[in-house]
Amino acid sequence: MGTLVEALKTSDISSGKMQAVTLNGQEILIAQVRNKYYAVRNICPHRGGRLSEGTLTGMVVECPLHGSQFNIVNGQPVRWLRGGLSGKIVSIIKALSRSKKFQTYKTHIEDDSIMVEM
Ligand code: FES
Repeated sequence: MGTLVEALKTSDISSGKMQAVTLNGQEILIAQVRNKYYAVRNICPHRGGRLSEGTLTGMVVECPLHGSQFNIVNGQPVRWLRGGLSGKIVSIIKALSRSKKFQTYKTHIEDDSIMVEM
């Protein structure tokens, strides 16, 4: 188990919302979905868009720059870019993006604090 770092208080973030924090010098996105808290790297693996400036729909966060979507539970891409490419190219890009796994972090609740395992 890594070091636990306090990210936010549970009262700081409501259901279906997300917020960026900096922990140990890294930008982390904290999201709450149905009373569970998730932590992922806040930087899009495509070209560095800040996911916290995008949208959260269920378990999926969408990058504000080019529309890629990622599952906040496992960090895997759900959609790579916002349409316009042939299916074969998209498949190749998805395969490449999966090889650069999107960073996720375990979270723990201690009293009223959201702790992130770094
Ligand atoms: S920077 Fe996120 S989809 Fe391009």
